[in-house]
Amino acid sequence: MKKTIKTNQYLSERALLVGVKIGREDNLFALDDSLAELGRLADTAGFEVVGQVTQRRDHPDPKTFIGSGKAKEIRAIAEELEADVILFDDELSPRHQRELEEVFKDDVRVLDRTALILDIFAQHANTREGSLQVELAQYEYRLPRLTRAWTHLVRQTGGGGGRTGGTAGVGLRGPGETQLEVDRRVIRRRISHLKGELEKVCAHRKRHRIRRRESRIPIISLVGYTNAGKSTLLNQLTEANVYVADKLFATLDPTTRRVEFPDSSAALFTDTVGFIQKLPTTLVAAFRATLEEIADADLLLHIIDITHPQVHAQAEAVHQTLEEIGADQIPIIPVLNKIDRLQDPDGARQSLEDFPNAVAISALYGKGIDDLLNIVKKYLYERYTSMEVELPYDEGALIALFHEEGHVERVENKYKGVIIQGRIPGRHTTKYQPFQTNKN
Ligand code: GTP
Repeated sequence: MKKTIKTNQYLSERALLVGVKIGREDNLFALDDSLAELGRLADTAGFEVVGQVTQRRDHPDPKTFIGSGKAKEIRAIAEELEADVILFDDELSPRHQRELEEVFKDDVRVLDRTALILDIFAQHANTREGSLQVELAQYEYRLPRLTRAWTHLVRQTGGGGGRTGGTAGVGLRGPGETQLEVDRRVIRRRISHLKGELEKVCAHRKRHRIRRRESRIPIISLVGYTNAGKSTLLNQLTEANVYVADKLFATLDPTTRRVEFPDSSAALFTDTVGFIQKLPTTLVAAFRATLEEIADADLLLHIIDITHPQVHAQAEAVHQTLEEIGADQIPIIPVLNKIDRLQDPDGARQSLEDFPNAVAISALYGKGIDDLLNIVKKYLYERYTSMEVELPYDEGALIALFHEEGHVERVENKYKGVIIQGRIPGRHTTKYQPFQTNKN
């Protein structure tokens, strides 16, 4: 069975984009902006965008999402523009997908944002872990969406993977079993195998993280919206040569590099997968191992493309994702990137004012990097946080660390553990948060 689906067989397929605004829904992105982003995603995946259609409705149509009249209208537009694919900006439910395929028949294919993002991830996954995660997300997404038409298509194309296809057309049919049932059975088996493999990867990562934590070197995660410049910054900091491209989701697999400060103290900087609005839940679940790296950091640098027209919505989408993965308690420094592209000084000043406490840099040209490192260093080594923690006696390493590197003000031995009150340097605060008694 094929692992992930790396194909450019659909290169330059013509795509018609469809965006729907439902009721008074307060979306992070305006409809047009979200569609512009979908266009970039389509472009990254190798489609040629030939047009777009928008619609406003109070509720999604239970059958076709857009209503049968609109579906017919879109079909006519697709015919006129000779589109091969209709690309929806929202995730379609399995039922919506089926009903729409009925309307469009075999003339055009129906895809949604989630399938597109999954496809880009599949094209960019380079390591075994990345591939396992993407493959799991793809199957989780496809399982409820298998249709007879789809199975037929897979068999026609020889059962191989593909942008909307998969590898399910393999497997012997049991007595009385339809091809569709066989496909589902094969996919379920594959999902459980992938989950097992990923558990092993998670366990390995966990051991690795524990070792890293024991080394007491602070860990800093670069987070940010896709294309904000995280890999460029990591390269600038360490000459790591992380893959940099003007593409969405160029980096999928975490890369960690050691950075030495001038006084030879050090920190580990990690570049991880970029975020995007409407990040598919199947992906968030499958990328648990990667995202846990972020949740484990001592400090986050939020890389923001200050020149992007939707900079505020992008920053908010990042905050929401951090919350979703339980990383919103970690201290965060906003880093405004690409300042070399800011032309108008007033606009630049305003942008900087919008993000208080931010550091302005150009990762590409190395501007502001010294300021950034100084602030990071100050945070890690000079800033102390007052805390009261109750540490169980089996957390000996943390108890010792507080005494060695913090300023202890009070110690009280209890039946279950020891209460320590005092001040701890910024680089260690995240480790103690789970044991905090005073949460403010
Ligand atoms: P994902 O892998 O999608 O998460 O992207 P990323 O955040 O790692 O972004 P990456 O470093 O790949 O940069 C995206 C694009 O922005 C590339 O074309 C970079 O050359 C460009 N870029 C990054 N930093 C700067 C900068 O300071 N100035 C300018 N002008 N371009 C930059």
